[in-house]
Parts: sequence; structure tokens; C-alpha cells
Amino acid sequence: MQLKDKISIITGAGSGIGRSSALLFAKEGATVVVADLNEQAGMETVELIRSQDGQATFQQTDVTNATDMNRLIDTVHRQFGKIDIMFNNAGLEYFTTIADTTEEEWDRTINTNLKGVFLGLKFVLPIMKAQGSGSIINMASVAGLAAWPGLGVYSAAKGGVILLSKAAAAEYGKFGIRVNSLCPGSIRTPLLEEQFLGKMDDPAAAEAQLRNHYPLNRLGNPDEVASAAVFLASDSASFITGQALGVDGGLSSFVGDLISIK
Ligand code: NAI
Repeated sequence: MQLKDKISIITGAGSGIGRSSALLFAKEGATVVVADLNEQAGMETVELIRSQDGQATFQQTDVTNATDMNRLIDTVHRQFGKIDIMFNNAGLEYFTTIADTTEEEWDRTINTNLKGVFLGLKFVLPIMKAQGSGSIINMASVAGLAAWPGLGVYSAAKGGVILLSKAAAAEYGKFGIRVNSLCPGSIRTPLLEEQFLGKMDDPAAAEAQLRNHYPLNRLGNPDEVASAAVFLASDSASFITGQALGVDGGLSSFVGDLISIK
């Protein structure tokens, strides 16, 4: 029970990494507020948690909308009297070159991945400052640490998330608030399987090509990111702030198999 009696909010918890994290947070004893644009998906996460005797509620939220984010955070604060953990996880991507990215795709990518994190910080930080504690986890990506052709705009957003998280850690550490970001590699979720591999001419070949770039020689599972989120959220990480934690099978520390060795 690493998160016993903690009140947590997870955005984008209707699917993938957010849903796995919501289930694990609840299993570890947290009350989870599932926030997602997609009501049906969010309610399914809540039902899954309740079926395992966990505590969860749903609030429909668009992370790109300041009114929605303010309402989400204010409602949770009024209902529970505190917010211990904020996991700004919602995100999306388009796989396309910079020149082929439309202005609308730029806006959606930046607004969901970066502005959504900014709004989460903006509204939760004053509450955590007043209570003198809190752990915030912001979802970045290995694509926020190094370039990935086809994900240029996404990289710009995720790189922004990493530096915004470090800035928040630096500004609010003295109030007992920790802020870290997570940098997953390729994780098997609907985003990866439908929006990325699913759009390739040969998804199986693309997956094999991808896998070969990972020192662990495989893709990751949402549970493996969820357990890193639990660690950062928990008191076990009490002296860890301002970090961008790779959960990437070694990808971000590997220059590539430049000359093969047996
Ligand atoms: P997913 O597509 O499975 O789930 C994303 C969830 O966010 C969905 O439930 C969706 O409804 C919700 N969402 C989208 N826009 C929203 C908005 N404006 N407001 C509220 N909710 C919204 O995606 P996945 O793979 O679980 O990704 C979660 C996060 O992890 C994202 O930030 C993504 O960029 C990041 N990530 C994912 C990786 C992967 O390989 N799957 C790798 C690195 C980072």
C-alpha cells in the first residue's frame, strides 16, 4: 500500500498508461479521480477500479480547456480537502514530417501535451503550496529527450513538458512539492497500436524494426510505466524532484547498434 489514503487525479485515465496507472494507484490505496475527455472510457476505468474494491470517481475534462481544468481541481479539493498526487498524463501524437504538419495538428499537439500540463500545474500548485505537500508527475516521452523523425512537433511539446516540470520543481520545492516527468519509450497502448503502428503500411514489420532499437529488445507495457508513476508519487521518492525518468527499455541511453558486436 504505497499510496494509502492519498487523493490523486490522473488525466487521460480512460485508456492506456493512464488507465493502468489508475488501477495501480487504487490498488496501492489511493483514491483516484479519473479525468478524461471520453466519458465512456473514463467510466469504464472507474468500474474496473470499483470491481477491485478500489475508490474512484470520474470527471469529464478537456485538459486543453482552462475552465475544465480549474473545475476538476477545485471540485476534487472541495470534495476531499486535499490533493496529494496530480498525474498530468493525457496526450496525443501525429506521425508526420514538420512540413506536412497542419496548423490544426500543431495546435492540438501543443495544447493537449504541453498546455494541458501547464493548466494542471497552474491550478494544483496553489492548493499543494497551501497544504505544504504534493507530488506531481507530468507525462513526457523519450521523444522529449532526443529527436525522433516524424514526431517533431510532439517532441517540441514533450521537451517543453520536461523543462516546465524542472521549472516547477525549482519554484515549488521549498513548499514541499515534488515535480517529475516520465519519459516512456514505445508502450503497447491504443495510441501506439492504432495511431502509430496501425498507420504503417506493414505494422508487424514496423514493430519488429522498432523493437530492434531497444537494448531490451522489446516494447513496453502500460503497467511498467504505471509502476514508475507509483514510485514517483509515493513517499519512497521523497528526495526526488526535477527528474525526467526514462521508462524506455534503455532506448534514450543507446546511440544505436552502429557496428554490430556478437
Ligand atoms: P491513449 O491514447 O491510450 O490514452 C490517452 C487518453 O487521453 C485517452 O483516454 C484520451 O481520451 C485522453 N485524452 C486525449 N486528449 C484529451 C484531452 N484533451 N483531455 C482529456 N483527456 C484526453 O495514450 P497512451 O499511450 O496511454 O498515452 C498516455 C500518455 O503517454 C500521453 O501523454 C502520451 O503522449 C504518452 N506517451 C505514450 C507512449 C506510448 O508509446 N504509448 C510513449 C511515450 C509517451
